[in-house]
Amino acid sequence: MLDDVMNKSLITKGLNTRFIGQNVLYYPVTTSTNDIARQQALAKCPEGTAVIADRQTSGRGRLKREWVTPQGNIVVSVVLYPARKELPFLTMLAALAVQYAIRKTTGLKCQLKWPNDVLINGKKVCGILLESRAAANSVDYAIIGIGINVNMKLADYPEISAIATSLADETGEEVSRAATLQNLFVEMEKLYLRLQAGESILAEWRENLVTLGKQIHVRAGDDVFEGIAEAVAEDGSLLLRCADGRSMTFTAGDVTLK
Ligand code: BTN
Repeated sequence: MLDDVMNKSLITKGLNTRFIGQNVLYYPVTTSTNDIARQQALAKCPEGTAVIADRQTSGRGRLKREWVTPQGNIVVSVVLYPARKELPFLTMLAALAVQYAIRKTTGLKCQLKWPNDVLINGKKVCGILLESRAAANSVDYAIIGIGINVNMKLADYPEISAIATSLADETGEEVSRAATLQNLFVEMEKLYLRLQAGESILAEWRENLVTLGKQIHVRAGDDVFEGIAEAVAEDGSLLLRCADGRSMTFTAGDVTLK
């Protein structure tokens, strides 16, 4: 298998960034890269530190779900120290960066599904989990956790094969994790520098959302709401127009396209 086992120099050699991915902590196996990244952030590691693993034993997703992490995929957590006003845009930044990196590495075209899934041909290829410690006016740290299905074969995972895909399944060949990661770090840094320069990335993210204008189900806790995904607000929340004309706003939830 291409870069079957990762290592630090495979990821950093020739990496054309100023800080994202320049300090790499690599683990063959760990619990969750987000946990290691949080410990690093609390110890004031350099901004852009990336924690990478080949496998996670307690990988987690949004809404307390498990994140399956077989060998051959990318699991990475990047530590940032953003300004408070940049925080709401970090999941958008990550989704766009993943989309651009996949395009650059494989030529595949992705779509984004609110709030932060990356899809190829309607199936999930990447999940993003942002965890942060913030107060009203300051942020101690933000961890962007990203899981990309790179070389897993979904035929081996029938329980998720109807809703998930991988880069190898889509291209029909193995994909280099190191190349994908390097492209991801480059794209993340470009977008982060744009945010820091005061530029908005909201319109770019919105343009790539497949959700807007579609009839959808939103699951929030135990409740499911149905309607048209009408718009996303400045903070990224989703506005749903229900059949009875009511409008609802969601800051989190799970969307199914009908
Ligand atoms: C989701 O779609 O629910 C988000 C999945 C996020 C998974 C990544 S893998 C790297 C990082 N470490 C974790 O435990 N989770 C995130």
